[in-house]
Amino acid sequence: MSRLEMKGITKSFPGVKALDQVDFTVGGQEIHALIGANGAGKSTLMKILAGAYQGYEGNISIDNEVKVIESPIDAKAHGIVIVYQEVDTALVPHLTVAENIMMDEIISPNQKTIINWKKIKKQARKELEALGLDIDVNKLVSELTLSQKQMVLIGRAVYQKAKFLILDEPTAPLSLEETEKLFKIVAKLKQDGMSIIFISHRLDEVFQISEKITVLRDGQYVGTYNIEDTSIDNIVEKMLGRKLENTYPKHVGEIGKEVLKIQGLTGTGGIHHVDLSLHEGEIIGLAGLVGGGKTELCKLIFGEGNITQGKIELNSKEVINKNPANAVKNGFALVPEERRKEGILVHESIETNLTLPTLDKYCKYSFMNRIKMKKVSKENIEKVGIKTPTEKQIVANLSGGNQQKVAIGKWLLSDAQVYIFDEPTKGVDVGSKAEIYRLIGELVKAGKCVIYATCEFSEILGLTDRTYVMYNGTIAKELITKETDEEELLLYSTGGGQNVKKQA
Ligand SMILES: Nc1ncnc2c1ncn2[C@@H]1O[C@H](COP(=O)(O)OP(=O)(O)OP(=O)(O)O)[C@@H](O)[C@H]1O
Ligand SMILES: [Mg+2]
Repeated sequence: MSRLEMKGITKSFPGVKALDQVDFTVGGQEIHALIGANGAGKSTLMKILAGAYQGYEGNISIDNEVKVIESPIDAKAHGIVIVYQEVDTALVPHLTVAENIMMDEIISPNQKTIINWKKIKKQARKELEALGLDIDVNKLVSELTLSQKQMVLIGRAVYQKAKFLILDEPTAPLSLEETEKLFKIVAKLKQDGMSIIFISHRLDEVFQISEKITVLRDGQYVGTYNIEDTSIDNIVEKMLGRKLENTYPKHVGEIGKEVLKIQGLTGTGGIHHVDLSLHEGEIIGLAGLVGGGKTELCKLIFGEGNITQGKIELNSKEVINKNPANAVKNGFALVPEERRKEGILVHESIETNLTLPTLDKYCKYSFMNRIKMKKVSKENIEKVGIKTPTEKQIVANLSGGNQQKVAIGKWLLSDAQVYIFDEPTKGVDVGSKAEIYRLIGELVKAGKCVIYATCEFSEILGLTDRTYVMYNGTIAKELITKETDEEELLLYSTGGGQNVKKQA
């Protein structure tokens, strides 16, 4: 079985030493987790392995033979395949599942002029079946769910006889069920002799499926640990360089008058008959599984889509958010779930992103107060803990988690009354999570109110005052947070508890 060794890997970008003499070894039937805070260098290390960069210092060897990997083709030749979180970039949407899995076969220079489509479909079907997957190979990739797209990429990796499979935060966008399915497949690949490198910020799942953990901190190698010799707390301490205490803020806001009242809200995205109220200084949770309607409800409140029935009142007056810009004027802020697509301008600087929602604060007669913009951006970078050499850095060059923090930071500067957060900690490391909770705690302390949508029940329990559980586009249950638990949240999020509700 093959063994891959990276030794003394160093990689710099302008102003950033992303990796500094990092060692990493993986081999055999192993699921090896790569852990570290946002910006620690995990993706960079894996991109080097996958041939995304032309230059790096240090050595990569496979079975004690030094290999130079400077292109994705080199990587593939050595059996290394990466599945990036943005699965779409690696797939051709208007081709079928079969064509995507068998891509090599189709574009290979040795390919005869006549392609045997029947054979290609049959082979693709075989690959998927071997993984226990039931995906129609004739379907266009553009019609698949994100989780199915991941599966197609994994199917392709198997077909290409990958020995080392890298999964960079594969579970962040998946539902619980989809995650379980992925883990089953990964376990099977391991049994068949593949080594899997797994990146995730969800340490519970890391402990569930991996044998080994390698920790990076600030671009440096901290150590490699056997799962049975360590613990979550231990790993957190290694990745942050300090102990993590008090994840959730203790001081919550003083709850005041009702600010937001939603009655019978029905509209785009299958949202129907939603009643909800929110008070000054209050954090309410929107709990629910992926597909329960949380994101759709957040968007509908924020003026995206159409309301066909019902109304929204702000401070006892009906308010109509015609579109998001109008919602912002009316005192709403939304940190959307799909931040890369909707929340930030990735090709602009951090400063531009942070100051955009509040641009009028820096403009007087068409003069922009650059000094003030810079100062405010710097403060905010510090506040949300964005890891960057300068506020002028282009957002696309930041690590995944740090891009998320830009999206959150930009709204913290705005002066909204109702803040809506949709899964704000997805892909964010545990240390920064605590920081985001603290910032939300500060918002409510200042009398703002917060809607916090998440499928992580521990966040609901730790952070909110009251919770609405969503199922199938509507509110299944309202709960007082301190009187509930994960089991009850799961019950209502999965459509259970109907009888209980009727009796109540
Ligand atoms: N193309 C680039 N240009 C400039 N800096 C970069 C580039 N790519 C990465 N970096 C920087 O290198 C460092 C490591 O980033 P990397 O993406 O490897 O972090 P990560 O550990 O994957 O973090 P996350 O958990 O947030 O995904 C960060 O400081 C990042 O800003
Ligand atoms: Mg990353």
